[in-house]
Amino acid sequence: MKKIAFIGSGTMGTALATAACKGIDPSEVVITDVVTEKGQKLADELGCNFVETNGEAIKAAHYVVFCVKPQFLKSVLEEVKPVFAACAEEGQEKIIVSIVAGVEVSTYMKELELEGKNVPVIRILPNTACLIGKGFILIEQGDSYTKEQEDEFRYILREAGGFDSLPASQFVAGTVLTSTSPAFIAMFANSLADGGVYNGLLRYQARRYALEGILGTVQLFLQSEKHLENLKDDVCSPAGPAMIGVKTLEDRGFRSSVINAVVDAYKRFDEIGKLK
Ligand SMILES: NC(=O)c1ccc[n+]([C@@H]2O[C@H](COP(=O)([O-])OP(=O)(O)OC[C@H]3O[C@@H](n4cnc5c(N)ncnc54)[C@H](OP(=O)(O)O)[C@@H]3O)[C@@H](O)[C@H]2O)c1
Repeated sequence: MKKIAFIGSGTMGTALATAACKGIDPSEVVITDVVTEKGQKLADELGCNFVETNGEAIKAAHYVVFCVKPQFLKSVLEEVKPVFAACAEEGQEKIIVSIVAGVEVSTYMKELELEGKNVPVIRILPNTACLIGKGFILIEQGDSYTKEQEDEFRYILREAGGFDSLPASQFVAGTVLTSTSPAFIAMFANSLADGGVYNGLLRYQARRYALEGILGTVQLFLQSEKHLENLKDDVCSPAGPAMIGVKTLEDRGFRSSVINAVVDAYKRFDEIGKLK
């Protein structure tokens, strides 16, 4: 049996399959997609296996990662329910991995009728930087899978980036930060660049300098034990330009806007998890 299958070859399916193909032999990786050409093209690029149906992908692999949008999950689970039942009858162990935002482990149990069938479900939430090995994957702690199964899964996807595991009560709060922050940071970076262009830089220069500023700062922060506020203070000299800019941001509600974006995103995670 192959090691891992990805159902859906979109943004995250591509990112995770790419990492898996770097971490283990690509011949151990299976992908599928509703659009055959898209899945086949990705498989050709990665040197892994493509199969035309979700059922074939599930039969072929030990770990099965569902990488479809939340609104399609219910119909995909309905389609593959008999496949899981058949595999269970044949004594084939399957480990389900969910990356679908807002969808709880109980949804898989219910939709696939897995209660009492000893099928592990690992709920994770990755982010887009997994594509370049700089992602962060949060794993929801659960009692349906063993430490060995989690360790093996981490090993397969170790090229995606870092991992952390969180209790179920904190999982959504953690995933909101890791998965939505790229969107907010992209907006912030582009706004910095816009300011640079306003001040006379060319767009490509402003884009690069804004991103270099963010990259270096984040690397410094990750290596420092200091509170982030102290690091800000280090840059703000008395009556200096950075302090003037900080005041402007405070006047315009920068912090409360960011805090509210995170709070509102958290609420939305709950809503999209409620399958219709
Ligand atoms: N993108 C992120 O940053 C991110 C982060 C964390 C978690 N997630 C989660 O990851 C999941 C996938 O998101 P995504 O951004 O990768 O979405 P996406 O780019 O739309 O990828 C989903 C893929 O699944 C395919 N698909 C649709 N129906 C299918 C079916 N019945 N059988 C097999 N494949 C099917 C889609 O094909 P078509 O395009 O032709 O419909 C598409 O290629 C979502 O549930 C999301 O919550 C995403």
